[in-house]
Amino acid sequence: MSTEAPVSSARSVTNIDSMLKEKRVFKPSAKFTREARIGSFKKYKKMHKASLKNPDKFWGKAAEELSWFRKWRKVCVWKPPFAEWFVGGKLNASVNCLDRHLEGPSRNKAALIFEGEPGDVVTLTYQQLHREVCLMANVLKKHGVKTGDRVMIYLPMIPEAVIAMLACARIGAPHSVVFSGFSAEALKERTNDCGAKVIITADGGFRRGTALAVKRNVDEALLGTPKVKAVIVVQRTKQDVNMAPGRDFWLHDEVQKVSAVCKPEALDSEHPLFILYTSGSTGKPKGILHTTAGYLLGCHLTTKYYFDLRPEDVYFCTADVGWITGHSYVAYGVLSNGGTSLIYEGAPNFPEPDRFWRIIDRHKVNIFYTAPTAIRSFIKWGDDWLARHDLSSLRLLGSVGEPINPEAWMWYHEKVGGKRCPIVDTWWQTETGAHMIAPIPGATPLKPGSATLPFFGVDAAVVDDNGEETAPNVGGKLVIRRPWPSMLRSIYGDAARYRKTYWSEVKGCYFAGDGARRDKDGYFWIVGRIDDVLNVAGHRLGTSEVESALVSHPDIAEAAVVGRPDELKGQAVVAFVTLKNGVPHSNNLKESLRAHVAKEIGPIAKPDDIRFTDALPKTRSGKIMRRLLKEAAASPTGDIKGDITTLEDLTVLAKLKQTEE
Ligand code: WT7
Repeated sequence: MSTEAPVSSARSVTNIDSMLKEKRVFKPSAKFTREARIGSFKKYKKMHKASLKNPDKFWGKAAEELSWFRKWRKVCVWKPPFAEWFVGGKLNASVNCLDRHLEGPSRNKAALIFEGEPGDVVTLTYQQLHREVCLMANVLKKHGVKTGDRVMIYLPMIPEAVIAMLACARIGAPHSVVFSGFSAEALKERTNDCGAKVIITADGGFRRGTALAVKRNVDEALLGTPKVKAVIVVQRTKQDVNMAPGRDFWLHDEVQKVSAVCKPEALDSEHPLFILYTSGSTGKPKGILHTTAGYLLGCHLTTKYYFDLRPEDVYFCTADVGWITGHSYVAYGVLSNGGTSLIYEGAPNFPEPDRFWRIIDRHKVNIFYTAPTAIRSFIKWGDDWLARHDLSSLRLLGSVGEPINPEAWMWYHEKVGGKRCPIVDTWWQTETGAHMIAPIPGATPLKPGSATLPFFGVDAAVVDDNGEETAPNVGGKLVIRRPWPSMLRSIYGDAARYRKTYWSEVKGCYFAGDGARRDKDGYFWIVGRIDDVLNVAGHRLGTSEVESALVSHPDIAEAAVVGRPDELKGQAVVAFVTLKNGVPHSNNLKESLRAHVAKEIGPIAKPDDIRFTDALPKTRSGKIMRRLLKEAAASPTGDIKGDITTLEDLTVLAKLKQTEE
């Protein structure tokens, strides 16, 4: 995601976007409301208002929920665009996630439940996890890692991924997790950018029945990372790997040589906790820098309020630790609340498309957090896969990563949630650290497709190019008008880029890069990335609304819409659509889809060109790569020449070329 290419738009994002007529409202059930932390909409509104009136009071009180070595002197020091939170305080994130749960009965409660792709299960109680973290922290120290030194983590979704993050946090070594599906090149570039001297990795991981060669990528990356002195290797698959003497060490050997006692460092509130790279659509990846206290508080509070997390819950988030979701809502937020975090190593359709439902049934999962892209795959695979499993343990569902199309929302609500679970649609970003806009379950009435309203202390708005708030249902730029604790502090090593990317587009505001509108109730509707907004005959259309209209057709599983330069209209609308399994391609269907969009939104949004495809090009985190589709749309043969290094499945490009009958 990038906000660097300035958007020259004299108009606001749209003048017809309010035409997507989503009228359904779902009030929280009486049962959920009775038991929820915030049991009424009125209470949410009151708390939100008070939090904006006196943010220091709100955040100061909230921060008392964390464990501190020394209390802060000042809640926030704001020298735009640089913020410091809880100045003068000292704490340790691993103590908040582990040590403080060792005092009572939660000591023997499951902190992590791991299910490997082959079906193996490992459960670590808080006490056991604490021990593993201390051991790994001591291994890092033994290899010369000191407070402030950066450590790379390049691991599959195995318990050691969480252990490694917390071990780094314990000794104050900022971690930088790189998704283990990324290439050697990506690992090399990120390692050099942050100057790490140790890498924690594994021999491999299981994915779709085969053992991925993770260590081999590290070996390749290491040819160009002069600063790396040691590689700590977790044995997961037992495949043959190259171990360079004096540089590569097996974790299971190293832990034999260290103590299981590791005193946590008392770190400043603003001590860097991690750097997470997000690949901009242009330029080199940005190292998003998060610091200790503010980030942890953001994760802690949002987990508590948005997931209504209870000690007895089993919480399953399907995100990889390589993404911010895996940091905030697999590790830090859940463990800081003393919750039970379930992680799964492999593919959602291995050995069959019901793997997640099998996991939910097997471990009696109560809270399930996934992405719209996954939901649309489940829809494509068919409902039969769900019917085979008992999903009645679920009590809350979450969504993250993209706008969820209202029809996908309805499916999630009915088929997965059995109509009883609130769906918490969470809008946020790597940069925001924690949820920013989302419904409070038990309090906020839900509207399918809307992330609803902002979190406490979050001053979100939709503004035009002059920074003025737009009228209801008029789209504009989604901005945050004041600092919040879990905000990024900078782009690692490039403060100028930080200022330019996030704080220069709209005066005095953080601009998120997303287009949105607010409806008459103040609810936020994300209409897509500003860079992707279509301009058809002078009308500006958010991609997500046209896509949602397509997905509401009964034969469609997924759709992506892009503009193609058109002499007459400025842009023509090109739609790439994936049909549900078993639905045949036909020209009739194309016509009926065009008519359907005209009915749902208006004739202006009618796709000029519809292309059927078996799959859409996506990033590894599931976001549709519209940039590639734009190229394919503009070329009569469907050719794509752009940068495809972040593409999840390379065969998709070939498939796109074969879309036309
Ligand atoms: C971008 C941030 C935040 C964790 C995962 C992705 C889009 C995210 C939603 C949502 C509509 C959403 C936005 C945002 N996005 N959640 N609930 N509704 N759009 O993190 O890779 O930093 O991406 O994802 O466009 O800016 P990320």
